[in-house]
Amino acid sequence: MRVGLLTGGGDCPGLNAVIRAVTKSLLLRCGADVVGFEDGFLGLIEGRYRTLDYKSVSGILTDGGTILGTSNKANPFRYFAQDNADVSDDVVARYHDMGLDALVVIGGDGTMTISHGLQEKGLAIVGVPKTIDNDLVGTDRTFGFDTAVTVAANALDRLHSTAQSHHRVMILETMGRYAGWIALHAGVASGSDIILLPEFPYEIDVVAGACLKRERGGQRFTIIAIAEGAKPKGGELAIQRIIEDSPDPIRLGGAANVLAKMLEERLESEVRTTILGHVQRGGTPTPFDRILSTHFGSHAAYVVEEGRSGLMVALSDGKMTEIPLADVAGKIRNVQPDGPHVRAALSVGTSFGVRVL
Ligand code: F6P
Repeated sequence: MRVGLLTGGGDCPGLNAVIRAVTKSLLLRCGADVVGFEDGFLGLIEGRYRTLDYKSVSGILTDGGTILGTSNKANPFRYFAQDNADVSDDVVARYHDMGLDALVVIGGDGTMTISHGLQEKGLAIVGVPKTIDNDLVGTDRTFGFDTAVTVAANALDRLHSTAQSHHRVMILETMGRYAGWIALHAGVASGSDIILLPEFPYEIDVVAGACLKRERGGQRFTIIAIAEGAKPKGGELAIQRIIEDSPDPIRLGGAANVLAKMLEERLESEVRTTILGHVQRGGTPTPFDRILSTHFGSHAAYVVEEGRSGLMVALSDGKMTEIPLADVAGKIRNVQPDGPHVRAALSVGTSFGVRVL
């Protein structure tokens, strides 16, 4: 059996743990030949790959990043280096020429959408759900999310003490694109006073009112966790840059500064912002993410061994399962107003910056 492996899209803590788990499982359980493509789909398009043996994946469990490299621009259906030409037939031919029996693709929604397209062209693909954003449908968790939440919660904890000393309003902006999972979990974990999410466009008067209420009640500081995709009701997304040749060209950033400006006009307290950025994606994965990555990788290897494909491995109610790629492609999973974390936060007095959820 010969199996290809690649990591696609933005990097994420736990990628190496998955590479290790897939490769070791396939080597130990069925003596497969495992080939790693470099820089995501770019390696598959350009024919850049290397054999992954046991030694090459040893000692990488705790390492951040990906030993294979990744690309968030490479898409065989729109290859940026050839005027966005569709080179998917070349990719299919390479897969067959290399004698591959399956391709394990570790990535987020963009990568799963491309994978679904290649599966439709006859490739045998098994996906592994990666993203700090936790926004893939069909799985309770993606790996990398727990690490990002840990980093963001630590940052909020640190802002807490300095906010208290200086009687300031401190705003922390998390990543997460169009889903608020990181801000929600980190906000609840740190006891943030206000949590602002893309799913619930905020009313600035409600946010300012929550800060004033704290001040008047003697708590002369406020901690706000805001997701990069959050926006005021009737307002626009804060866009940091546009990357033309990327499958998802919009890069968000600056929602905290938009909010700070509006609050400064309404409050007497000083308002400061911290934009956490890629710190949430770098470094060693948490133990939870190492365990989840090992389960995902091992389970993906099982699916490959059983000759099944067109699936993404998933976590459902604490168990490993799979979901068709067709059900994942082109969709994202958002925070729901009646979700348990939102309800728990509301019951301890956290504001989501809206009158009614
Ligand atoms: O999808 C993961 C993510 O980190 C998002 O949270 C963020 O919006 C985006 O990627 C940033 O992308 P880039 O690394 O291209 O700036």
